[in-house]
Amino acid sequence: MLNTVLSKKNTVRHLVGIKTLQRHDLDHLISLAHDAYQGKLLNTLTGKIIASCFFEASTRTRLSFEAAIHRLGADVIGFVDAHNTSFGKKGESFSDTIQMLNGYADAIVMRHFDAGSAELAASISTIPIVNAGDGANEHPSQTLLDLFTIKQKFGEIDGIKIAMIGDLRYGRTVHSLSYALMNYKGITIYYVSPQSLQIPHEITQKLQEKNVRFHCVDELEEVIAHVDVLYMTRLQKERFSENEMHEMGYTLTANMLKEQAHDDLIVMHPLPRVQEICNSVDATKYAWYFQQAKNGVFMRQAILYQLF
Ligand code: NCD
Repeated sequence: MLNTVLSKKNTVRHLVGIKTLQRHDLDHLISLAHDAYQGKLLNTLTGKIIASCFFEASTRTRLSFEAAIHRLGADVIGFVDAHNTSFGKKGESFSDTIQMLNGYADAIVMRHFDAGSAELAASISTIPIVNAGDGANEHPSQTLLDLFTIKQKFGEIDGIKIAMIGDLRYGRTVHSLSYALMNYKGITIYYVSPQSLQIPHEITQKLQEKNVRFHCVDELEEVIAHVDVLYMTRLQKERFSENEMHEMGYTLTANMLKEQAHDDLIVMHPLPRVQEICNSVDATKYAWYFQQAKNGVFMRQAILYQLF
């Protein structure tokens, strides 16, 4: 099912990235999230201990994972401020930190600022690793809850026309979402970004190989009338190198939607928003980002349940 890494002693299942998941894995997790939504997964993991380890800032991802853990009847240990751990203060290695956690918990939910850190953790760990975001690389649990949200609205993911807008270079959510959509039929993707923040070449290359239709444009107004989903993202300033500067002038307003959007369009955003969606959109029928954030609890219940 989920990414499998063979270790010397046993086979451990991890959720490290979206790339290695197949259509049936995605469908199964979406259906499990629906079970969670209906309250069917409550208290299915009693007695388990999940470590929630955040080396990088988080609000929704951490809190929805922890809410999911409580709903599953499991217990949670962990840290939110890696600066105040032996890793942050005393020079303990990442590898020692993971090995030590292996003795305390049954799975580790981990967010880290380095791309590839989840894969590294999975190569060391004898308990499941769930990637809650590794640098600018991937954010698989976000993508799974995004897919669940799209399915909830449209009943199907096949055939969806979606625009991903903003910092497509450093935004890990749009990387994972692009990989996931390669598993569906009849998808059209519009990538809207400034030239300097375009979607990475390795992703467009894969889209070409898989015959997924995509267009790269730089104006938000060009796409609103053509899509079912507007997926807004913020500038990932914390990932810029020193002296790196990018301008991004996208702000979606209620008026823009009123003039151009078709009736069923939904606006999504992994959040936090900074200036990408005007507050005037919140009261419109198009605003789905808070529902999307709420769906995080259901999908994260599904992911943890599936790992065991
Ligand atoms: C995203 C992240 O951390 O990558 N947020 C989230 O997990 N809900 C997007 C972002 O921070 O811009």
